[in-house]
Amino acid sequence: MSRYQNSCRFVQSLGLKYPIIQAPMAGVSTVQLAATITNHGGLGSIPLGGVDFTTTVGPIEDLLKSFQSLVPNPDLHRNVNLNFFYHEYKSDPSCGETPPQKRKVENWVSLVNKSLLGPDRISGDLVSEITTTSRSLLAARSKHKMEAAVLALLAHYQPKVVSFHFGCPEKEFIGKLQGLGIAVHVCATTLAEVDVLLNAGVDAILCQGDEAGGHRGSFDLSNGTENLSTFALTQLVLGKVNGLRLQNPPVVIAAGGIMDGTVIESLLSLGAGGVMMGTAFLRTPESIVSRTFSKQVEGLYTDTIITPLVSGRPARCLKTLFVSSLEREYANLSDKEKGLPDYVYRYVMYKKILAHLPNQDGRYGLHLTGQGYPFIRSGLNAQQVFGELTEELEARGWKLGVDSINELPKVQ
Ligand SMILES: Cc1cc2nc3c(=O)[nH]c(=O)nc-3n(C[C@H](O)[C@H](O)[C@H](O)COP(=O)(O)O)c2cc1C
Repeated sequence: MSRYQNSCRFVQSLGLKYPIIQAPMAGVSTVQLAATITNHGGLGSIPLGGVDFTTTVGPIEDLLKSFQSLVPNPDLHRNVNLNFFYHEYKSDPSCGETPPQKRKVENWVSLVNKSLLGPDRISGDLVSEITTTSRSLLAARSKHKMEAAVLALLAHYQPKVVSFHFGCPEKEFIGKLQGLGIAVHVCATTLAEVDVLLNAGVDAILCQGDEAGGHRGSFDLSNGTENLSTFALTQLVLGKVNGLRLQNPPVVIAAGGIMDGTVIESLLSLGAGGVMMGTAFLRTPESIVSRTFSKQVEGLYTDTIITPLVSGRPARCLKTLFVSSLEREYANLSDKEKGLPDYVYRYVMYKKILAHLPNQDGRYGLHLTGQGYPFIRSGLNAQQVFGELTEELEARGWKLGVDSINELPKVQ
């Protein structure tokens, strides 16, 4: 039995050439990035976290059409992962989507203001303005009304993968997607979350290690979190899944801090079915960030930090002066002052505050980035980064061995 059996089966099941998924990155990755990865044998992803489909699924359809227009081979049109933020898709009161009280908004503006450099401090009263805008922006946040329309769209386009971040849909809904020939991938950061995914019958567990850039996909922190690294989490999950001896075990995908072919190969040889990579593509021209990362921030910081402060949910980002200052100022607040708006209100309000600042050079941005940030290859486009990664992977001995592909049927 090949040590790459799981990855070969994964590749075969989705009709890929390589077991590499480009991570969906809301507000950062583009359809150009997704199409490039798909065209070269990986799985491109389209994030829907920042897409408003509260009244029509048109914006999702536009993205899918645009993706397909960039993929010349029609056989690859379904090779895409459509990524949903689960709590936005199915509104859940426990996800902190109740409008914040005025006091919390005042606390938030005051904390941000204290963390800005002196000349950039906000003088006017922003509280009522950001409260009003945020309310109207989020009033119809609940997207579950759109479930039937989303399912009809998915039935038409049949992306091979639909993935969820921040939560796991119920078994029944997952069954509906699987009935359409779509594989369901869900993110987990702890073993408790993995249990939820196993009970729900997901097709793949996206093991998001502590190193990963962006928001933690965590949804069950009731037992705390050990902040497991990518290798630790992946191996623990593999042990758990193997121990269950399921007839159709879910694929285990590793994500977080993976920046080169050697690390990819190590994870695959441990039994991971594939890897998901985001930070590695941040500086390619196909990433929105490559254009907006300002000279102010570029090259100045190499440390990253996980902080819930900016958006209301833990996210790994560059430890800029602003983020450090926010952490320090927050630590000095009284318990009463620490009451801040929840995600996603806080995030929307933060973006509103940013728009008011005189300095628009990126110094106060939230630069979502993984611990692998210093290893980003500069000056390369997405095709070149992907090409180097796959060359390194094959140089380490990974190949799509026919011997290791068995009975697993292709997704229809
Ligand atoms: C800038 C950025 C934005 C992200 N946005 C999303 C997202 O919209 N949906 C999602 O499922 N994961 C998102 N993630 C997390 C990735 O899915 C993945 O877990 C992570 O990129 C893996 O770690 P790496 O960045 O070290 O490769 C994001 C990551 C980054 C770096």
